[in-house]
Amino acid sequence: MLNGNLGPGVRKAMEIVVALGRIFGARRLVKVESVQVAGVSYRNLGEAGLEFLNEWANQGARVRVPTTLNPAGIDLRAWREMGFSESFAHSQQAVVEAYRRFGIRPTCTCTPYLVGNAPGVGEHLAWAESSAVSYANSVLGARTNREGGPSALAAAITGRTAAYGLHLDENRRATLLVDVRCPVRATSDFGALGYLVGKAARNRVPYFVGLEVVGHGLPVPLLKALGAAMAASGAVALYHVAGVTPEADLPGILSPDHETLIVDDLRPAYDALNSDAHQIDLVWFGCPHAGMAEMAEVARLLAGRQVKAALWITTARETRERAKAEGLVGAIEASGGRVVADMCAVVAPMQELPFRALATPSAKGATYIPSHAGLAVRYGTVERCVEAAVSGVWPGNL
Ligand code: F3S
Repeated sequence: MLNGNLGPGVRKAMEIVVALGRIFGARRLVKVESVQVAGVSYRNLGEAGLEFLNEWANQGARVRVPTTLNPAGIDLRAWREMGFSESFAHSQQAVVEAYRRFGIRPTCTCTPYLVGNAPGVGEHLAWAESSAVSYANSVLGARTNREGGPSALAAAITGRTAAYGLHLDENRRATLLVDVRCPVRATSDFGALGYLVGKAARNRVPYFVGLEVVGHGLPVPLLKALGAAMAASGAVALYHVAGVTPEADLPGILSPDHETLIVDDLRPAYDALNSDAHQIDLVWFGCPHAGMAEMAEVARLLAGRQVKAALWITTARETRERAKAEGLVGAIEASGGRVVADMCAVVAPMQELPFRALATPSAKGATYIPSHAGLAVRYGTVERCVEAAVSGVWPGNL
């Protein structure tokens, strides 16, 4: 590959993989089972990024392992009725098309593990998208570093990545014991906990004790919320939860020289993530992209009521199809909400729409929306966000 025997596109990819290996002192490469590529929104990529992709594809580069794609900036089908511009939509479609030329599945979701790219324990991956990386490492027990857009694509084209960081046993040991001493129940509580731990983590791997575990685990939406929040506030790519995650009970997984963080109050996270916005014009669920249970919960809470604010649930196109077949999309739309596929509000051209204040139960969304989308944020439970959608204002205590 490096000699160019498989063409210039493959050589370029291997040069990137090898360069990263040298920088991080890797001794060898490992084969990857799958790749998740990020850097899809035209808003972040721009014309230069699109040209770079097309040139690379023109050189004959194709992926050699199953590869999925992160969210784009718009719903690729419903963008017009949502109010996004024709020019952005055109450029965004061109980006997705460029990725398709590499042989990538245009899943446009940050939850590839919900649409068929679900790796097993110990599998090596090269995933970009911080929340998916966290989920793959922590909940599924697979092994991936936080790749960037080009490095993930290079790994997909070569089928390999450099063995450093979280591919190695020694870097998967927990170095921060998180002793949870307050109730953590709602999805937004898990996000709040993740926000606080991410802030304190400073490159350490957290090990949680004290979470109320139901049966043998914690529901997927809660683990998604916890990991996404830590990834956003502190670039945490791996965590363990006693009695829940697959590596938590391995001997020696908690490093003997670990430090301890006690969390006995989630209030500081709710305070940090909330503005004082009163009027709410957009309520956003599905960050990370919603699964069936999350959609069912919103549909149940709406229960035939009409929303005053816009209500979006972002999800994978495939998940949307399933939800549609089960009547969930119809139920949410009957209330005036929208089940949006392919996109994420953080990477969307939100300045094209008339919104000023957004409510969400996602700590990752609440972290990024003010700086990336320029909207004021309200952060709270799913129940509270549904009430905000129905009334158009942020409700008092619920
Ligand atoms: Fe996914 Fe966007 Fe949230 S990529 S995790 S929906 S910020």
